[in-house]
Amino acid sequence: MKYSWNVISEVMRITPPILGAYREAIVDINYEGYDIPKGWKLYWNTGLTSLDPEIFPNSRRLEPSRLEEDGPAPYTYITFGGGPRICLGKEFARLEMLVFLHILIRKFTWKLLVPNEKFIYDPMPTPLQGLPISLQPHNY
Ligand code: HEM
Repeated sequence: MKYSWNVISEVMRITPPILGAYREAIVDINYEGYDIPKGWKLYWNTGLTSLDPEIFPNSRRLEPSRLEEDGPAPYTYITFGGGPRICLGKEFARLEMLVFLHILIRKFTWKLLVPNEKFIYDPMPTPLQGLPISLQPHNY
C-alpha cells in the first residue's frame, strides 16, 4: 500500500493534523544569525516547513509521486515530528488510516454533501459542518 500511504502523507503535508510542538534550548544556539539563549522555549511549526516551496516545489499541489523512492530529505517531512521525540504512534496511525482508506474505497462510493466545506484549525483541522458524506455500497 505504498501509493496509498504516499497519498495520505501528501494530504497531511498540505493540511498537517498537528501544527507543531515546543522545545527548550538546552544550550545557547546561534541559528542563521539569531541567538537563542539556553532555556528559551522554541515552537517548531509543521506547516511552514511542509509548505515551503524551496523544499516542496508547487507545495500546495497534491503530488504523491514526490514522496517516492528516497522521498524528502531528513527533517523536511515533519508531519510526525522528527528525531528522538518523533510521534510514538506513527506506525499505529499509519495502519489505522490505511485500513480506513482501504475499506472506504473498496466497499463504497462516496460523495461530499457540502462541496468546498471550510476547515478551521481548532487546533486540529476541523471541518466547519462536520464533513457530512453520503456512502453508497458498491454492491447495492
Ligand atoms: C495522523 C496522526 C498523528 C499525527 C500527525 C501525529 C503527530 C505527532 C507530532 C507532530 C508529534 C510531536 C513530535 C515531536 O515533538 O517531534 C507527536 C508526538 C506524539 N504522538 Fe503523535 N501523531 C499522530 C497520531 C498518534 C497516535 C495514534 C498516537 C498514539 C496511539 C500518538 C502518540 C504520540 C506520542 C506519545 C507523542 C509524544 C512523543 C514524545 O514526546 O516522545 N500519535 N505526534
